[in-house]
Amino acid sequence: MNMRLFLLLFFSIFTLLSDAQLNETEIDKKVEELLTKMTLEEKVGQMTQLTIGCLLKADEKGWIRPYELDLKMLDSAIHYYKVGSIMNVAYEEFDRSGWQKIITQIQNEAMKTRLKIPVLYGVDAVHGVNFTKGATLFPQQIGMAATWNTQLVQRASEITAYELNASGIKWNFSPVLDVARTPLWPRLWETFGEDVYLASKMGQSVIAGYQGNNLNAPDRIAACLKHFMGYSMPLSGKDRTPAWIPERYLREYFLPPFEQAIKKGALSVMINSSEINGIPVHSDPYILTEILKNELKFKGFAVSDWEDIKYLYTVHRIAHNNREAVKIAINAGVDMSMVPNDFSFTRDLISLVKDGEVPMSRIDDAVRRILRVKFILGLFNKPIPEFKSYQKFGSKDHQKVALEATSESITLLKNLNNILPLDKNKKILVTGVGANSLNVLNGGWTHTWLGRDTAWNTAGRLTILQAIQNTVGAKNVKYVKGTDFESEINIQQALDEAENVDVIIACLGENTYTENLGNIDDISLPDAQLKLVTELSRLNKPIILVLTQGRPRLINKIEPLAAAILMAYLPGDFGGEAIGKIIFGEINPSGKLPFTYPRYPNTLLTYDHKYSDVIKGLNKTTADPQFEFGFGMSYTKFKYSDLKASTKNLTGDDTLKVFVTVTNVGNKTGKEVVQLYLYDKVASITPPVKKLKGFEKIELKPNQSKTLVFKLSKSDLSFIGRDNKPVVEDGEFDVIIDNLKETFTYKN
Ligand code: BGC
Repeated sequence: MNMRLFLLLFFSIFTLLSDAQLNETEIDKKVEELLTKMTLEEKVGQMTQLTIGCLLKADEKGWIRPYELDLKMLDSAIHYYKVGSIMNVAYEEFDRSGWQKIITQIQNEAMKTRLKIPVLYGVDAVHGVNFTKGATLFPQQIGMAATWNTQLVQRASEITAYELNASGIKWNFSPVLDVARTPLWPRLWETFGEDVYLASKMGQSVIAGYQGNNLNAPDRIAACLKHFMGYSMPLSGKDRTPAWIPERYLREYFLPPFEQAIKKGALSVMINSSEINGIPVHSDPYILTEILKNELKFKGFAVSDWEDIKYLYTVHRIAHNNREAVKIAINAGVDMSMVPNDFSFTRDLISLVKDGEVPMSRIDDAVRRILRVKFILGLFNKPIPEFKSYQKFGSKDHQKVALEATSESITLLKNLNNILPLDKNKKILVTGVGANSLNVLNGGWTHTWLGRDTAWNTAGRLTILQAIQNTVGAKNVKYVKGTDFESEINIQQALDEAENVDVIIACLGENTYTENLGNIDDISLPDAQLKLVTELSRLNKPIILVLTQGRPRLINKIEPLAAAILMAYLPGDFGGEAIGKIIFGEINPSGKLPFTYPRYPNTLLTYDHKYSDVIKGLNKTTADPQFEFGFGMSYTKFKYSDLKASTKNLTGDDTLKVFVTVTNVGNKTGKEVVQLYLYDKVASITPPVKKLKGFEKIELKPNQSKTLVFKLSKSDLSFIGRDNKPVVEDGEFDVIIDNLKETFTYKN
């Protein structure tokens, strides 16, 4: 063996060994050994999470820039309060050297403690590592859902995991697995949309991308499933307001994505901030202990959301004071408290245990879960990563994947007379509040919490206007903003400029918002923006709408005035480039709506609504949305044929195979999302009109055909029955793909 080969082998074996994951028994043993050595104070410290903001140097004007840790505060947090977890950024993102400095200081301090337990640092890297300068930014989750491409979602998650490690962070407050059952909810864009099946599949892909099989590898991170559970259907539609959800529907619509992700090994969950049926979830032992830990056998830990234990007495008023709130939450099953600004939790919990009001067994259970995650992540061996070795951070390779994901997310909703793709020789008016803003493309959780401050935008990324100018030449493009989000600016000027162009591209949508700052009283697109399009339409020139928005704002008044509509969601840093490439035909759009786009403010129905939802009195036969869930057009045409089921009579645990052939009958290569829906004809709980049960994204060249096979098993036919347990009933089912239908029966 020559020397080079020997060295190569030696180093590969060495790497394999150093990355080898401890098995469950070894980890459990290490956790128990450590637990027996810990004092009560050390244990409660592990259950405490602080935000970095309270550990940074500040004066009366706020944080001092460049940010620096206040070493006295750090000392007190780590050595006196023995804090086990730190989170977040202060106001804006750090660059990698900023993270390196902070993480190194924190972990070095932790290594000086008696038991050398590393700190678990967590952030919201929800569309790429949005709090590290120069990281690769993907579309927000709703856009990722619109790709309907699970492999792409997994690849994007791998990149996020890698770039988060490059920032020294091993824990991500992502993915959001809340199923967004109301379009009013301002966090819809953080989800994978309204459908349980789609959200579950996407969630599994994210877990595979973040956690993989070897969690202590230098490119893996722990996922945190949010927000367990029932957060996404507040009765008022406003964030963190009460939900009324019976257990049957909790289990039917909200539990499955969490359940699937937990089966895939997700290491942590964050708890729903709100109340369900009058019970704040942070105080609910049924959801946190009975369902999450006993029934789902979840071995990870449950962290509170921001200040939510305090909220039990300051907002929800089920406790008289902090001490009582801590007692209720910890006894209900909360393992870690995102306090996050003081030590009230730590002090109160220590005293509660001393007074016998919280049993030591509950503390041990929580700490065991937290330590287990720290061991699994390899933090004890390597609390500080090799910062230098992440050469691919923000690389061209990563950016390519982001552009691909963005391109596959954008959804063509209308295209009269094939106006798109646009001819590059046209004179164009670009107008609208979304036309020249990178912030609007990215949305919240971007560089800052609200994502609105332009100072931190990524240099070199294009707005929609810039991408259009780059393609057709600035001299062929006029730009007039026309309106702000809610008010008019210069609509008349837009009209004047429109006189001299061939086509109008109106970029409409929402300003950035995060959490309850996105609450709205009216789901329609604001009047000023509707007026801009209405006035422009009088010129009888083709209008192309580009919508950048986190939820479907109603456009029924202007939809008939548009020749084409592109829904871009919140496409991220590459949104401008991808939209430009789609408008001019360099990319064939393939996104599909992951939610129902409603037409009317009082008909906000999901696609899988019930028969009795349809308002017969108004003489309607369908829910009549503006655009259906799963809808999205292409520059080519696909034809579906030969839908066949392998049997007409399915029994017991047998599998039903469903075949369908898809042909590209147009003249461009394109991608299509083949969607399989089931319809249960009669059931003991009112069946939905249809339910997604399978999908696959395929690419076809002109004239190319592909036959797909979907497999359905008994569990695909199940629903939550009258006793709140899954049930499969005998009967007749339709399987529907595109406009084809086959019927089969099932017998237990
Ligand atoms: C949000 C969570 C987020 C947490 C930490 C909360 O306000 O609800 O989604 O992970 O803050 O930033």
